[in-house]
Amino acid sequence: MSDHIIVERRGAIQLIRLNRPDKKNAITRAMYDRMASALRAGDADDDVRVHVFLGAPGAFSSGNDMQDFLAVATGGDHGKDVFDFLVALASARKPIVSGVDGLAIGIGTTIHLHCDMTFATPGSLFKTPFTDLGLVPEAASSLIAPQIMGHQRAFALLAMGEGFSAEQALDAGLIWKIAEPEALEAEVIAAAEAFAAKPPEALQLAKKLVKGPREPVLDRIREEGELFLQRLKSDEAREAFMAFMARKK
Ligand code: COA
Repeated sequence: MSDHIIVERRGAIQLIRLNRPDKKNAITRAMYDRMASALRAGDADDDVRVHVFLGAPGAFSSGNDMQDFLAVATGGDHGKDVFDFLVALASARKPIVSGVDGLAIGIGTTIHLHCDMTFATPGSLFKTPFTDLGLVPEAASSLIAPQIMGHQRAFALLAMGEGFSAEQALDAGLIWKIAEPEALEAEVIAAAEAFAAKPPEALQLAKKLVKGPREPVLDRIREEGELFLQRLKSDEAREAFMAFMARKK
């Protein structure tokens, strides 16, 4: 289970890798928990200057684990793992670089709204099928995406579940740069090394200023989270999760 998130240090870089390729890097509660701890620990460690998120070839992430969604939909406890991860992500003081190859679904897309520099390969797909699953946007995406890309594109992404190609994501300001698959990780690490070489206090202050106040973002995470939880227990959501599970057989 713990191998589904691999946390390693490369000099001043803390690398957090999603490593569940057989499930296209679907994120379980244990994985959120591990990523939240890594973000908090890295932020508190003076030797870490930058966080990096990477996935697997072909899949950054297929989003929240559907079994976990179904468990909540059918009466299970939802826990605090996702919320704690989102708070750690939105509150991170140190810069975050991310690299996407292939699928970036649900939180696999919205995580990058909190990153400071995202690279993606040409074949990547950014998609948030929240409403098709009977759900609502999360991770403060309903606040941040319209600010970044304007209402209509944010609506297409978050409410209509339109898939964005890497080109569209670049055009929308969701990512920084397109990188070829064989160069992706090297470019991500090079960017992280460039961040790590900057005076750390100045860089963290710059991030704080550019990101702006956290309270509205954290408030929106809470507001979305309450609705999300209600929606997880709705008939619309339960049917959508069961349809996904049935499709596997
Ligand atoms: N949760 C749990 N398992 C998932 C998953 C998820 N979010 N996404 C994929 N998987 C699993 C599949 O069930 C399958 O498992 P199996 O081999 O044991 O049957 C495996 O990962 C491979 O997925 P598969 O669907 O066969 O690959 P694909 O390339 O045909 O399709 C997706 C990939 C991501 C398009 C498709 O799996 C999908 O739509 N997943 C759900 C995405 C989603 O809605 N996430 C929540 C967003 S809020």
